[in-house]
Amino acid sequence: GRATGRVRMMPGAIGEVQVATALRQTVVIPTFNERDNIAALLERLVAVLPESDTEIVFVDDSTDDTPEVIRAAARTCPIPITVHHREHSTGGLGGAVVEGMRLARGAWIVVMDADLQHPPEIVPDLIAAGLRDGADLVIGTRYAGGGTTDGLSDGYRKFISGGSTFATKMIFRNSLLQVSDPMSGLFAVRTSSLQVDELRPLGYKVLLELVVRNRPGRIVEVPYTFQQRHAGESKSTMAEGVRFLKHLAILRFGAERTRMLAFALIGVSGLLPNQLALWFLAHVAGVHYLAAAVLANMIAVGWNFALTDTLLYRNRRHRSLASRLSRFFLMGNADLLLRIPLLALLVDGVHVGVLAANLMTLVTSFVVRFLILDKVIYRA
Ligand code: GDD
Ligand code: MN
Repeated sequence: GRATGRVRMMPGAIGEVQVATALRQTVVIPTFNERDNIAALLERLVAVLPESDTEIVFVDDSTDDTPEVIRAAARTCPIPITVHHREHSTGGLGGAVVEGMRLARGAWIVVMDADLQHPPEIVPDLIAAGLRDGADLVIGTRYAGGGTTDGLSDGYRKFISGGSTFATKMIFRNSLLQVSDPMSGLFAVRTSSLQVDELRPLGYKVLLELVVRNRPGRIVEVPYTFQQRHAGESKSTMAEGVRFLKHLAILRFGAERTRMLAFALIGVSGLLPNQLALWFLAHVAGVHYLAAAVLANMIAVGWNFALTDTLLYRNRRHRSLASRLSRFFLMGNADLLLRIPLLALLVDGVHVGVLAANLMTLVTSFVVRFLILDKVIYRA
């Protein structure tokens, strides 16, 4: 579906063109199957926000009737509401929030969850704090000044939340000096300080993305108590945890170096099937060691392909499976053509030790293979 909504117009003097007012705030709310939270959420927002100065933008990736529930509620809601339903949920929660930021027309953009874990009553406090302190970013924090994580259901969740917050603060200590809760999903940003095009959101941690990439000037925090979810269940999964690690690596090293790192890890993991196959073929099955090495290399290449194709380049499979597989194997065997003469050259010509020489050929081949993968086989 397309975005729907009302534009608030201010009647000008007679004969003048009507102009859209500059809104004080846009509340951006990502939703994924939150139908039973909408009524309570809107009721509590309406109670604390000036209807003349506010709009609410829902960015929805639901598979249930949440957008219809929101549209129905919008008809009687004094605050204008936009529902943007996405057919392709690019970037997950973070992608939805950034899309909402693009639609927002308020001088401030408040981002909050739909499940009432973020108390709506705090929204005016966020903006007031931003105005009072001349801040670009106001973060609702669970980790300072009396804020708490009460709504995290058990000790395990509290541990994961506290641990990943600590680790993230260590990794990005320069950007996060003044931030006690970089994983917060509740914050207000001054629209004029926002550079939406710099953001490459991936999953849940959109505030982290914003702080690290936009480097907002002044940041202040407002403590709050994270509540129990009102209805439904959390959409956070194991896959979301893996996506978070990927997000951290991309923010820290950049996308290309992260892929190279992942490729290196896959390559290292391939040593195990390689050595096992070599041992079995040469020592158990009695195959000649050179032939065994070539076969073992094939097995390792198959292993590498399976992991690379599913974990690393899942989103860049523009060629057919047959084409990807044959090119990958070609590269894996061309690798032997490169490495064996290079090995001979290093050992016999330059008199490097066999093990050191072998390592040098592996590293050379690694870099060459990565560049072929990244620039040719899975060209962006
Ligand atoms: N549009 C869209 N697309 N919305 C989503 C998606 C998605 O793929 N996934 C989740 N949401 C919405 C949910 O409907 C909810 O409104 C909000 O994002 C948060 O999702 P939850 O599933 O309730 O997340 P959580 O409670 O585990 O985590 C929240 O709190 C953490 C601590 O503050 C999030 O705000 C995290 O970002 C935050 O770190
Ligand atoms: Mn939640």
